[in-house]
Amino acid sequence: MNIKTPYIWENWKFIDWDDAKDHNLTHSLHYGTWVFEGIRFYPTSNWPKIFRLKEHIDRLFYSASVLELEIPFTKEEIIQACIDIVAKSWVEMGYLRPLVYYGTWKMGLYPKWAKVNTVISAWNWGKYLADRPIDVKISKYKRMHPETADMNAKVSGGYYNNVLVSLEVHKEGFDEGLLLDYEGYIAEGPGENIFFIKDNKLFTPALWTILPWITRATIMQIAKEKLGIDTEKAKILPENLKDFDEAFFVGTAAEVTPIWSITYNSEKINFKSWEKDSTSNKIKDVYMNIVYGRDWEYSDWLS
Ligand SMILES: Cc1ncc(COP(=O)(O)O)c(C=O)c1O
Repeated sequence: MNIKTPYIWENWKFIDWDDAKDHNLTHSLHYGTWVFEGIRFYPTSNWPKIFRLKEHIDRLFYSASVLELEIPFTKEEIIQACIDIVAKSWVEMGYLRPLVYYGTWKMGLYPKWAKVNTVISAWNWGKYLADRPIDVKISKYKRMHPETADMNAKVSGGYYNNVLVSLEVHKEGFDEGLLLDYEGYIAEGPGENIFFIKDNKLFTPALWTILPWITRATIMQIAKEKLGIDTEKAKILPENLKDFDEAFFVGTAAEVTPIWSITYNSEKINFKSWEKDSTSNKIKDVYMNIVYGRDWEYSDWLS
């Protein structure tokens, strides 16, 4: 993965990639007090286009408000900065990473008076999860209790939970992990939401213990509008996984990734998600057509 591009956008300036530096005594480095977004852009017949940029920036501002980070720019300015950095990066297809954080001049948990920095970078990024049937394991770590932190915000400190899951499952040879919530129901992947399919209907965990919003909402909308498939919000126990025919992960990075198997307590449950005419693959095709700008009905989602 080559993450080097000519410029980084920092507090309203484009700086050379090599000049992007921060001090060791940066507040967020010590306490995980930065908020971030992961946004994809794709080549289309008419310039690279950023998918659902406005929704990502809405979530960035929401996450910032949770930590009382005051972004000294408007949403429209950040949206324009994202478009500009893609244009200046000479990357056709990749990932955008807006980051807002408590910087220097303050130590200790109370973050106020630390300088707030806003940084946006864009780099070339292909597939996040393998482009083949993936094997998933239910992690020994649970998703954080929703009363321990705001689950709707994308705050770096909370990602400690997700990193532990990734370390655990990769060590055991799995492609990705899956977290249960504090009550033992299926919640989400460390960087993805999850859907199951049975009798041509989608099932997905309800909001509360998962990161809500962008790809999950997109999938529910396009499954209904393009394929006539409804979604039910469901509390799913690992013991009930056998009831489903298919399973797939969704997320900005993971896009739509059909799941081959989920392992729970050494038992491996296989799904038909990878069969050629599976519903998961149909949903994936609809989604990829939209992000690549091949479906004009959804061109409003592309910037
Ligand atoms: C924990 C977690 N869940 C789900 C998602 C998928 O969210 P989105 O589709 O908004 O990118 C992500 C990605 O940001 C994530 O980090």
